[in-house]
Amino acid sequence: MTTNTTMTAAVYRRFGAPDVVRIERRATPSPKPGEVLIRVHASTVSVADHRARARDIPSGLGMLAAIGLGLFRPRRPVLGMDAAGVVAAVGSGVTAFAPGDRVIASMGAAFGGHAEYVCVPADGAITRTPATMALEEAVTLVFGGITAQGFFNQVAIGPGTSVLVNGASGAVGTAAIQLAKHLGADVTAVTSGVNAALVTSLGADRVIDYNRQDFTTGGGTYDVIVDCVGNAPFSRVEASINPGGALLLVISDLWSMLRSRGQTRRSGKLVTWNVGKPGADELAHLVSLADSGRFRAVIDRSFDLADIVEAHRYVDTGRKRGNVVLRITRPEPATSLRSPRQRSI
Ligand SMILES: NC(=O)c1ccc[n+]([C@@H]2O[C@H](COP(=O)([O-])OP(=O)(O)OC[C@H]3O[C@@H](n4cnc5c(N)ncnc54)[C@H](OP(=O)(O)O)[C@@H]3O)[C@@H](O)[C@H]2O)c1
Repeated sequence: MTTNTTMTAAVYRRFGAPDVVRIERRATPSPKPGEVLIRVHASTVSVADHRARARDIPSGLGMLAAIGLGLFRPRRPVLGMDAAGVVAAVGSGVTAFAPGDRVIASMGAAFGGHAEYVCVPADGAITRTPATMALEEAVTLVFGGITAQGFFNQVAIGPGTSVLVNGASGAVGTAAIQLAKHLGADVTAVTSGVNAALVTSLGADRVIDYNRQDFTTGGGTYDVIVDCVGNAPFSRVEASINPGGALLLVISDLWSMLRSRGQTRRSGKLVTWNVGKPGADELAHLVSLADSGRFRAVIDRSFDLADIVEAHRYVDTGRKRGNVVLRITRPEPATSLRSPRQRSI
């Protein structure tokens, strides 16, 4: 496979509104020893891209975030935490992947997915996808799926476990519902009424419309509460968690993070904000679930790379459902793909 020396990428050189992102030509990265160069077909524009671009960081975490994102200007000018594409080249020492492999990968805080090419460590969060899975769908497994699975790795969920997902219609929430249902849990989804049908279609057993009811006041209790919104600190939801249960803070501020250990010790309920280190195994698990029809891609809208500013504007609304896909390079021929399991909305 020949690789051009320059590539198209969405680049931001200062923090701010969506229009700080521009399409530019950049040098194509070369894989270092141990790395895989992916020709990116699709990525997603996630809330993490919004947070980085706008420096919209939870309270108290601004300085810590600046270490990774940059203090005065972006340290990593290409956003995009995930990628689905085809391996274009491998660095020395890489035996697990070869040019032509179809893969999905999570770059996490290294970003770089909003470009025609990205390098990832071969021993990082990367896995193959079947030839029958469209890359624009496969990429939606990554951001929410790896996050939800990372948190679920820390708790015991099985048949009958009651799980409440707050913020159930987003990228993480839609993945959390599906993963919990796959494990046999009884799932309550907290969302606005407009998204009730979506979360029900993904398996939620009941829906609480947060505009009509506060889930902490209805008397319901749960073994596991997953907070994907940031409005369910332990002080608010402690009484809604069963003895020995857990609060998984997918998003939290510094204050909640600092208090979590003490809250866990005092209450006997796990309070954690740490996603752990989900990687290739978790991605492979998600691919296997999706390939067998037990996990669906939830795609809200798709944008071409050229329309990156519009994609950011949409994600900035905070109302996206599931994933916003960014089409980067020419799509695969439709004839080779099957896509019966996508949940388009
Ligand atoms: N810890 C980690 O490693 C990690 C990883 C990924 C993401 N995160 C964080 O996790 C959070 C969720 O990420 P995401 O990708 O799922 O976000 P997302 O896709 O942007 O979530 C958007 C959804 O949030 C829902 N929502 C907004 N306000 C709500 C409320 N008060 N109650 C219930 N739902 C509400 C919206 O539904 P409605 O329109 O129905 O309100 C919308 O569908 C973000 O803050 C993100 O930064 C953390």
